[in-house]
Amino acid sequence: MQTATISFDKFNPLQEDECHARIRAARARLAEQAVLLCHHYQRADVYQYADLTGDSLKLSRLASQTDARYIVFCGVHFMAEVADIMSRPEQLAILPDLAAGCSMADMANLAKVERCWRELGEVLEVEQQVTPVTYINSAADLKAFCGERGGIVCTSSNAGSIAAWAFAQRPKILFFPDQHLGRWTGHQMGIPLDEMVVWDPDLELGGLRAEQIRHARLLLWKGHCSVHQMFQPAHILRFRNEHPDGLVISHPECSFEVCRQSDFVGSTEHIVRTIKQAAPNTRWLVGTELNLVNRLAEEVRAEGKIVQFMAPTVCMCSTMQRIDPQHLAWTLENLAAGNVVNQISVAAHERAAAKLALDRMLAIS
Ligand code: 13P
Ligand code: SF4
Repeated sequence: MQTATISFDKFNPLQEDECHARIRAARARLAEQAVLLCHHYQRADVYQYADLTGDSLKLSRLASQTDARYIVFCGVHFMAEVADIMSRPEQLAILPDLAAGCSMADMANLAKVERCWRELGEVLEVEQQVTPVTYINSAADLKAFCGERGGIVCTSSNAGSIAAWAFAQRPKILFFPDQHLGRWTGHQMGIPLDEMVVWDPDLELGGLRAEQIRHARLLLWKGHCSVHQMFQPAHILRFRNEHPDGLVISHPECSFEVCRQSDFVGSTEHIVRTIKQAAPNTRWLVGTELNLVNRLAEEVRAEGKIVQFMAPTVCMCSTMQRIDPQHLAWTLENLAAGNVVNQISVAAHERAAAKLALDRMLAIS
């Protein structure tokens, strides 16, 4: 039975104990009607309620496989959009705090990407020569842009095979919004750095000369993750001096130099799996978000493994952090009362083309 929507004001001041009791009660009432998908960066006090966890690729697959009516996404906005696109029409994707965005995703928008495409068209036969590839950390309209132009979506765990597919279609790639993932992927494929150029969306012709564009194989959008840019080669150097047997693992959103100096580079799921499967008593330096690193350190401590965060300062994904127990309690109580709150619904005119780009990705991954 539906009641009036319960205001968040009543949940904001809730003490931890009461908040958790209300989450558990609402979760029990919802039973199979809801599934909680949690990204690895979620804070511990929310992550404990996850039904399913993963990196962006795994979560997008899971979103397409669940039967639950409500897909409650403890992650950021673009992830909930993907859940909406990949699920059936009668299923609803819910983001407990609408302000949980991704600052990297916001570094590219449709107007700027369309301008880029137009300007590239002044120098190249763009439709024949360039495959647009968007990192999954992007708004649905950019995924639709790629879907409509023979392009594709990638995540941090499949960027290599997606780029190989994209190059098989056309000789150049326009990669947005993360220059670092794009550069690392190109490097892994053997593309020299001088054949990868950075497109600055705030400058005419991306700040490039026509000749540079014609020469380039990879055009990298000037975007980055504010969390991963904190990790520096000097942090790795200090760790290696102090612990010559230690191992370094980083997310490909880190800078090129950090990735190059790491022993392993991969998605959040890859980082978790690699350290869990490593030999006992090993020591690790990890270049990714702090909630993941703290949880992992705790989980492998009993095997004598030591897991350290790469940066000396605390750096979390502040937008992921917004999904707190208060927002989760508010969301679940409303859903249990039949009130749909914070639904993420991708516009009908973008959905089909965005799904095309995502389906192309899932078929290859
Ligand atoms: P993963 O796909 O590796 O989980 O990465 C998502 C992300 O936003 C990392 O900052
Ligand atoms: Fe976006 Fe960076 Fe947060 Fe990942 S860690 S969701 S890329 S802001």
